[in-house]
Amino acid sequence: MNVTLRNGNCMPFVGLGTFKIRGKEDVYRTLKAALETGYRSVDTAAVYRNEAEIGQSLHELLPTNQLKRSDIFITSKLGPKDQGEGTCYSACLKSLSSLGCQYLDLYLIHWPGTQGKKPDDSGQCELRLGSWKDLIQLQKEGKVKNIGVSNFLKHHIQELYDKTGVYPEVLQTEHHPHLVQTDLIQFCKETGIFYQAYSSLGTTTQDNQILTDPVVLEVSRKLKKSVSQILLRWAVQQGIGVLPKSCNPKHIQENIDVFSFQIPEEDMHSLNSLNRGRHYCWNPKDIV
Ligand SMILES: NC(=O)c1ccc[n+]([C@@H]2O[C@H](COP(=O)([O-])OP(=O)(O)OC[C@H]3O[C@@H](n4cnc5c(N)ncnc54)[C@H](OP(=O)(O)O)[C@@H]3O)[C@@H](O)[C@H]2O)c1
Repeated sequence: MNVTLRNGNCMPFVGLGTFKIRGKEDVYRTLKAALETGYRSVDTAAVYRNEAEIGQSLHELLPTNQLKRSDIFITSKLGPKDQGEGTCYSACLKSLSSLGCQYLDLYLIHWPGTQGKKPDDSGQCELRLGSWKDLIQLQKEGKVKNIGVSNFLKHHIQELYDKTGVYPEVLQTEHHPHLVQTDLIQFCKETGIFYQAYSSLGTTTQDNQILTDPVVLEVSRKLKKSVSQILLRWAVQQGIGVLPKSCNPKHIQENIDVFSFQIPEEDMHSLNSLNRGRHYCWNPKDIV
């Protein structure tokens, strides 16, 4: 299932998250299971340090699955240390080279801040604007099909638009029943930016508070779907993309099976009532 982005390009609703999947063997095994189960989108980032393994694995796996590069949607992200005009451009070329690709389907500014700078440093805005100008250029040159941002808040996005006249195609940000950023979602709807969730399952912590939330467990029991399927369907049913990370073939399979059922209105309502503004990953609120 695809979504059409504001520029008319298509992007799969479900992608494979790859944070913390490292080493050729694990990456290969995970991508093999994902491609065989129907995933056509892979999310990586320079800071995940797995771009080369993903590139090599796809190179080997695509032909054996009768797939072409153009059948796959690859996302990568600019590392926060490479923020700024020129450095962003070079970092994107490095990601392309590591992945062994001629182009990326989506390139995101990973974080509104710059590594090594204080959150309230007055240079933050100028640096991310420089990165944004590079992304616009990379898109013009065809090196990147779609451009976007991650972990940005409304003011960070609006200022990019005010200075360049270009909105991102995608905002990738943390989203699950414990963190629903209603104003940000509304802003993205109004401006045509696709809202893509990360850490939909409560991320990779031992003490995962979402997979064990009693309300989510109750809806899971009632609908006879796994807890992860409920969490992913809850997002997809609201038109929000998801990127579940898993190394387990059984989980990989169940995480993409979220289009064959509906969550009834009353259960959507129960899940929506769980919002407590809780970030389990990064919180960008202090980045000026
Ligand atoms: N832009 C950003 O700043 C940012 C930040 C965080 C994440 N992301 C992206 O979003 C992706 C997903 O987020 P995330 O990595 O934080 O984690 P997540 O997808 O919220 O959760 C992953 C955890 O859930 C478990 N899991 C997956 N499927 C399951 C299932 N069906 N049943 C039970 N447990 C299941 C996984 O374990 P198993 O492996 O054992 O299945 C893993 O421990 C990342 O991999 C990355 O690509 C982006």
